[in-house]
Amino acid sequence: MNIKVIGITALLLAIPFYTQASAISELETEYKSQGAEAFSAAAGEALWTKTFIDAKSGDKRSCPICHTADLAKEGKHASTGKVIKPMAPSVNPQRLTEVKKIKKWFVRNCKWTLGRECTAQEKGDVLAFLKTL
Ligand code: HEC
Repeated sequence: MNIKVIGITALLLAIPFYTQASAISELETEYKSQGAEAFSAAAGEALWTKTFIDAKSGDKRSCPICHTADLAKEGKHASTGKVIKPMAPSVNPQRLTEVKKIKKWFVRNCKWTLGRECTAQEKGDVLAFLKTL
């Protein structure tokens, strides 16, 4: 391999990690400006695995219902059956790279799962947990 190829390869490998780090740090700054304290991966994992009861239907809801318990594996949408790509950024480098996408899905998924929007603290904690995977 010549030096140019090595350089380009290194650059391509670095892109997903760079953009993931920058998307998360942008959101962390935003959440802190909304009053969140230091983020906790343990608290994020606890929220991720917690079961909530839907007020209307009485159904059990949680994040792993769609994203599965093993975040390195593909998930399946609880209502549509559509395949959801693995959540762990280590297996799926596209994960958590786009601020707009993360925000959109936090709104939808928190409303569906918790019956309300997640707080800035909760969202930062979940990202702290997911980024370690
Ligand atoms: C009803 C099914 C469902 C549930 C329950 C669910 N999600 Fe999701 N989630 C999705 C789908 C569908 C996507 C978008 C497709 C994709 O990113 O693969 C998504 C994407 C996301 C994303 C965006 C990831 C990225 O790479 O930008 C985040 C963050 C997320 N979900 C967090 C959560 C959290 C936190 C919970 C629990 C509070 C949760 N989800 C529960 C279906 C669900």
